[in-house]
Amino acid sequence: MGDYTFPKDFWWGSAASATQMEGSIDQDGKGKNIWDHWFEIESNRFFDGVGPGKTSQFYKKYKEDIALMKKLGHNSFRFSISWSRLIPNGTGEVNKKAVTFYTDVIDELLASDIKPFINLFHFDMPLALQEKGGWENREVVEAFAAYANTCFNLFGDRVNTWFTQNEPIVPVEAGYLYDMHYPNELDFKKAVQVAYNSLLASAKAIQAYKQTGQSGEIGIILNVTPAYARSKHPADQKASRIADLFFNRAFLDPSVKGEFPQELVQILKDLDFLPKTEPNDLEIFKENTVDLLGVNYYQPRRVKAKEYLPHPEAPFTMEHFFDHYSMPGKKINPHRGWEIYEKGIYDILLNLRDNYGNIRCFISENGMGVEGEERFLNEDGVIQDDYRIDFIQDHLKWVHKAMEEGCNVNGYHLWTFMDNWSWLNAYKNRYGFVSVDLAQQGKRTVKKSGWWFKEVIDNNGF
Ligand code: BG6
Repeated sequence: MGDYTFPKDFWWGSAASATQMEGSIDQDGKGKNIWDHWFEIESNRFFDGVGPGKTSQFYKKYKEDIALMKKLGHNSFRFSISWSRLIPNGTGEVNKKAVTFYTDVIDELLASDIKPFINLFHFDMPLALQEKGGWENREVVEAFAAYANTCFNLFGDRVNTWFTQNEPIVPVEAGYLYDMHYPNELDFKKAVQVAYNSLLASAKAIQAYKQTGQSGEIGIILNVTPAYARSKHPADQKASRIADLFFNRAFLDPSVKGEFPQELVQILKDLDFLPKTEPNDLEIFKENTVDLLGVNYYQPRRVKAKEYLPHPEAPFTMEHFFDHYSMPGKKINPHRGWEIYEKGIYDILLNLRDNYGNIRCFISENGMGVEGEERFLNEDGVIQDDYRIDFIQDHLKWVHKAMEEGCNVNGYHLWTFMDNWSWLNAYKNRYGFVSVDLAQQGKRTVKKSGWWFKEVIDNNGF
């Protein structure tokens, strides 16, 4: 005990998102988002055919859930507002029942001494806006800024930690390159426009926040995994530099420094993939950088130089420049298929310290999804998830080391508080501190890791 002590006021807690935990998707005036729609037309894409309607029902059980958070010692909790619950068509009329719901959630958190961190967008584009092209369409950038402004006006008197978006690369890669999320397009030109417009929307939301004159802070949440090269060979090194440009710097640089990396701009220009822009966009980026950065980390990205030339007719993707590399001997979480590499979290933090002005940041997601956790139930009905405890502890040790070396880290949030709906994997892999028994009306039971984390919080370390 006591070897890894964290600073006073360190943010301890967990993160979740609206579509993954609220449920009640067809109630109280919520409009459809792309997930509701996609599940209606292609339920076979989701594990066991389970859709977003069957999530953990936070919409109904939020009081019980927040009481549990308090019991487990959380001092902060990040959740997202469902844009299509608050503004069913994405623009225009505000749904009063949604205002009541989010107000109650915030008040309940505050009354429990848990700081609410609100994220405005977590992969869940309102359907009415996706029908106009979603992030492909510049109108949606304006709609997002207006929605963000509505949220600041409604809740900004009590909430002072805001995030514009969670992992904006995901709608780009999953929706426009790899056939993983709706609208399942494969179009690099559109992908670049989607990335650009969502970043611009983030900058405009930051601008709107500043204009309210509210005194809190606003940031973005990025999965800024370093791209590790297979070897020191210059071709492998180049592969990793380009992967880093596309997956990390394309988002990190405009968000933190207010500008795009020149090398990336040049590559896109040479390939004729530059997005459509407007004259004062660059100024908007420059003037509206984040106060705070959320860092999500699950797995490293390993790359190597390409083995073969791409097929000349194959659709263009980032893999035109590199191949993925599976390192022999890597540690892996077999349920999710993701490598576990704890030091990655430290490398990210050092990169932020050295190349991004040591921006104030926190670990906004880290976690381990495991299938069939009921195998680990003890006689008291508690899941003995020692693997999750090890996972968290091993990552926290690297976070601690980074902090000792001067990194500006303000907290650690696990993904996620209770087992949630995991997009395509639905309820296959469970991530929570708290289990949710779908067969028993979503009965909550704290896992061993939840009690362990409470102790860590009580001791401010381990
Ligand atoms: C993060 C997302 O990338 O990974 C979460 O922000 C997601 O929404 C988490 O749930 C884990 O991934 P998955 O696909 O296993 O749910």
